[in-house]
Amino acid sequence: MKSFEEKVIDVSEKLNNILDDCECSPKEKDITLAFFEKLKHYFQSLYDFEGRVRDMENNEKILRSNFEKYQSTIISEIYSFEKKIRSNIIKKRVRELFRSAVGEYIFESPITKRAFEKPRGYPGDYLIFEMFYNDSYAPEGTGYFLDKWILDHPLPKGAIYRKNKLKEMLSQIIEGNKNKLKILNIGCGPSRDLRELISENMDMGNVYITCLDQDDEALKFSEDEVNKIQRHNNISFIKHDIISICLNRKTKQLDKQNVIYSLGVADYFMKTTLENFIRYCFDLLEPKGKLIIPLCSSHEPELYIPLRWFCEWDFYSHDANEIRDFVEKEIGIEKVKVIWEKSQPIFFVIIEK
Ligand SMILES: C[S@@+](CC[C@H](N)C(=O)[O-])C[C@H]1O[C@@H](n2cnc3c(N)ncnc32)[C@H](O)[C@@H]1O
Repeated sequence: MKSFEEKVIDVSEKLNNILDDCECSPKEKDITLAFFEKLKHYFQSLYDFEGRVRDMENNEKILRSNFEKYQSTIISEIYSFEKKIRSNIIKKRVRELFRSAVGEYIFESPITKRAFEKPRGYPGDYLIFEMFYNDSYAPEGTGYFLDKWILDHPLPKGAIYRKNKLKEMLSQIIEGNKNKLKILNIGCGPSRDLRELISENMDMGNVYITCLDQDDEALKFSEDEVNKIQRHNNISFIKHDIISICLNRKTKQLDKQNVIYSLGVADYFMKTTLENFIRYCFDLLEPKGKLIIPLCSSHEPELYIPLRWFCEWDFYSHDANEIRDFVEKEIGIEKVKVIWEKSQPIFFVIIEK
């Protein structure tokens, strides 16, 4: 087992290779070396922290507050490093170096480990979201403190807010409806919103729900979990990649819908794909139908740093006003509103046909 000093020497050597490979300018080199000092400090803090946790030193409150301090310090250092360095290659290589230094601590967190490893081949799969919704964390060690920190972070909290807000919107639509109502959930993942609505005894007699996802494992999980609560004939689970449907405009594959919603999917679309997606969903709506798409807000870019640096989990964030203008002026849809509680990192785009 290598000592801490040996590990630092290893990482320093790797950094020198990066600086040589990337042919950094002298300014970039100075910035990266200065950042490396901050990284070493963080590395040292985690190394010491691990020892203190192992020896059960201090109480949990003190340890959590110490851990939060290390996190907020390294995140502001990363933020300033990212602003100063233009090259995405250098940033990516330094992120890899960061993880090779602190990986043994941060991957003690099951959330971080799965988010980084992406066993389903894409970031943010159904089980990660179940971990958020279930408030699930490692039982001990540094992993416990990192998981607790993650679960308190505005983005996972925002995902829970998003799911609850959507449930509120769906409840209002379902309660005020007397006719047959067809609802399509695109990228259903674990279908937690739906499962909770059923558990809360929402009367869904005349509601027909289609849950669509590209991931068969997520669909199987959703179907099994829904059936555990109540066998529901009006819910179907279908496997499709919504992007291929939109691009091929295979409108016949899906029926017209009264409500379409999609949580945590459009955040991964570049502008042209987002445009195709919105147009396709709009066309699929019945008259007076509603399309509900929450998106991540770009107003606090620091929020996305832990995802990128710990897990290589990246997506696009948006300015709420720009998105409304984009839907109105570029896509040409008239009835669009944006709902945004500014304490939240997520806003809702609601389009009516
Ligand atoms: C971030 S998860 C969100 C899950 C769920 N909507 C929620 O909020 O709890 C995104 C889900 O969208 C699915 N997804 C991503 N891209 C997709 C695509 N192009 N077509 C269909 N499903 C997609 C993923 O498989 C995953 O289950």
